[in-house]
Amino acid sequence: MTDRRHVTPTRTAGGWNEEAALATSADTLGLTVADEILDGGSPARVYRTTAATGDDLVLKVLVPAPGAVDGHDLASFRHKLHQIERLRTLAPRLAAHYLPVVHFLDGDGWSACTTPFYDSADLAAPLRESPPRTGEFFRRHATLVRALVLDGYAVCSHPTPVGHLEEVVVGRFLRRLPVLRRALPEDLTTAPRITVNGVPCEAPHLALGRLTGRLAPLAPARLMAPAHGDANTRNVLWCTRPEAAEEFRLIDPRGSVEPWDPVYDLAKTLFSLSVWDPALRTGFSVHGSKHGYEVGFRQPVFPGYRAAVHRFLPHLATHEGLSFLFRDDPGWLDRLLLTHALHVLAEAPCRLSDRKPKPDLQGRESTPEALALGHYLLGTLLINDLVDRLDRVGHVDAAGHLALVTDHLPGGGS
Ligand SMILES: Nc1ncnc2c1ncn2[C@@H]1O[C@H](COP(=O)(O)OP(=O)(O)O)[C@@H](O)[C@H]1O
Ligand SMILES: [Mg+2]
Repeated sequence: MTDRRHVTPTRTAGGWNEEAALATSADTLGLTVADEILDGGSPARVYRTTAATGDDLVLKVLVPAPGAVDGHDLASFRHKLHQIERLRTLAPRLAAHYLPVVHFLDGDGWSACTTPFYDSADLAAPLRESPPRTGEFFRRHATLVRALVLDGYAVCSHPTPVGHLEEVVVGRFLRRLPVLRRALPEDLTTAPRITVNGVPCEAPHLALGRLTGRLAPLAPARLMAPAHGDANTRNVLWCTRPEAAEEFRLIDPRGSVEPWDPVYDLAKTLFSLSVWDPALRTGFSVHGSKHGYEVGFRQPVFPGYRAAVHRFLPHLATHEGLSFLFRDDPGWLDRLLLTHALHVLAEAPCRLSDRKPKPDLQGRESTPEALALGHYLLGTLLINDLVDRLDRVGHVDAAGHLALVTDHLPGGGS
């Protein structure tokens, strides 16, 4: 059971900031704060702490910036707790894999929560080893899918509302576009066409316009339980204690109890491997000239990620546990690739609200604007390719499409 409290100290002069909310949270809960953990993907600040009992807890504090994108706001933060509580009754076998929320504080304009510190590495860690342990990554991913899909998503089935993909997948980017327009170079977001890595592209909102009225064949056969909704590789913590090497814990779900599509999460994991995690770990290299933009990842990059991206979809297609899901859902593969392209695009505005330092492997920092720009450019490339392929042949060749972000990049790929 979560210890849930309202904290009512009066508003600090100038409103709450992260330092004040952190100090108040630590004080209220009697925590000694140690290091900040910089691995998260949201504007929340996350710290390792010790309680008076000696327990190691992770404290997460959110003071949202004005105009934070959906998903980075206080309501979503609070709903994460509701979602985990709901799963405890709806899908108890899956819920056993969620780290419990020990405390939840509701402040005035901020929130905070704690979870027990879990000795772990992210799901993609085996892919960064030298040589990469690709087989081990897929073994772990198959275990994750069994919990997330079979013990989670599959416990409910709901009819898919008309216009689901337009609203949830495409609309998520279009709703966030104004935030991006305020931060990216004006010529880039106002031009109807841009060239990316030598490929002439339409602006992404225009390319998406070509899909209007054509997404019905890609729609999910059904929506299912809200099992997670933000299954990036850093939200899956794999135990590093040798005696519990098969164990993992989930954290940081989307923060919604609405029925959901498992393909959205499968696409999120693919996006972690193809663009998001390489970008956060290495930074982007971007060059603009009168000929357009060249975008790639900075060096060094991880060969294991590239291999995993190419094996990911065949691995899903042959995963014995997923056959029941895909059998009557002929649009799943094109939908997964559409959702993947939109995860890349919709991440661009998210990068702007995460102001935490982002040092790459050599200590060079990436600014939020540089990370937003890289996601926007690669997303533009992907969505144009996807719409062209749907136009020309009616479906997407996954290997050729994903090679745009793994093989055909300036500097030699990801
Ligand atoms: N209880 C925990 N034990 C160990 N690591 C944690 C724990 N909670 C969070 N982390 C680490 O902190 C990161 C950020 O936490 P998360 O809640 O996912 O924040 P964000 O919303 O910013 O993504 C995680 O990706 C993970 O690396
Ligand atoms: Mg997270």
